[in-house]
Amino acid sequence: MLRFLSLFAVIFALAVPAAAQDTTVDSRAATGGAQTLADILERQEGLKVDDAFRSEATGNPDVAAPGSDQLGTLGGASDPELWRAFRYGSADISTQNRGPAATTVIQDGGMWWLEFREGALLQIAMYLLGGTLVALTLFYLIRGRIKIDGEKTGRTITRFKAFERFGHWLLASSFIVLGLTGLFSLIGRKVLIPLFGHETFSFLAVGSKWVHNNISWAFIIALFIIFFVWVVHNIPDRTDLRWLAKAGGLFGGEHPPAKKFNAGQKLIFWAVIVLGGSIAVSGLSLLFPFEINLFGHTFSTLNGWGVPGWFGATELPYPLSPQEEMQYAQLWHALISLILTAIIFAHIYLGSVGMEGAFDAMGKGEVEEQWAREHHSLWVQGVLGADPVEKENSK
Ligand code: HEM
Repeated sequence: MLRFLSLFAVIFALAVPAAAQDTTVDSRAATGGAQTLADILERQEGLKVDDAFRSEATGNPDVAAPGSDQLGTLGGASDPELWRAFRYGSADISTQNRGPAATTVIQDGGMWWLEFREGALLQIAMYLLGGTLVALTLFYLIRGRIKIDGEKTGRTITRFKAFERFGHWLLASSFIVLGLTGLFSLIGRKVLIPLFGHETFSFLAVGSKWVHNNISWAFIIALFIIFFVWVVHNIPDRTDLRWLAKAGGLFGGEHPPAKKFNAGQKLIFWAVIVLGGSIAVSGLSLLFPFEINLFGHTFSTLNGWGVPGWFGATELPYPLSPQEEMQYAQLWHALISLILTAIIFAHIYLGSVGMEGAFDAMGKGEVEEQWAREHHSLWVQGVLGADPVEKENSK
């Protein structure tokens, strides 16, 4: 009996999200007389749910939804104690599947996660990425392309060696592929299915997942490469304060002195390392489900320090079920990726159309000396010596 009920519960648990994706499922006819998505949402919001369909069925299987239907109830034969035990994790369940999540048959947190992922997260994605693109377009229209101010010398300086450029382009290409395939997975149901239909999306989704999972390794390797080759040039120092005080001369005025990387680039570098590192770790936790649990212990530590109280918030949930760990990992992975993508939009703009002479640094590895003098004057002094023109002439 218990086996049968477990199986039924699994089918029920799988069926709820599938039905929940369709918000039109709010009539009892569509659920075979069982509770509807509207009922579930009302109950979650703490509103009063009209449960006459249940109470009338108690002890009277004839008026209950047939158990044979998808989402059907057992009517008078239902066993609320058992379902409660399933829901609160106290049922004595034995399964053939030995996975860590096998004995969680009903998981309430799933609804919150599903709603956030299908709603707020997509809005954040739209405003963050769309807003950044609009801001960059406005910046371009107002400020125009940042030109090399002085006379070009016709001489070039080596800015990045081949290995540095290899690390950068491995990082950049993998990030772009991961960004696109990740976005396909995120907006698939809401945007791509209505646009292309289920068949095409199925192909896209399976392909995206495969590419996303496998290209992730290239991104992780590239993160290590750029960290080791550039970390010494990205340690903050006093020149950064001067550079920041003048907003890097981005809005006009003189070019503040900078070493190999200016303060703006150092911020990009550390954003890539810290946020990219966090994306990599949360991605690994999603790639190996239930093996790397990042959130339960973190929440418990933060609660111990009283951090939620600092913001007037209630304690963070703890302990977490294995599925909740994965849900938090998914939300974190997506949110941090969106934030880094917005930052990278600005980087790509400045490294290409936004600034004359910048792309050559990563394209050819050589930059126009005048460009280097304007944007990285201290670095040029270090490479060519204090008076580079004389030094060049005396060669
Ligand atoms: C595909 C478009 C991209 C272009 C055109 C581009 C261009 C550039 C250029 C020209 C530089 C050297 C700037 C200089 O000489 O001072 C650079 C540096 C760098 N790039 Fe990119 N990049 C792209 C994508 C990316 C992506 C996707 C990432 C990371 C996920 C990234 C991370 C970095 C980092 C960390 C640096 C060093 C720090 C800095 O200059 O800000 N780039 N990039």
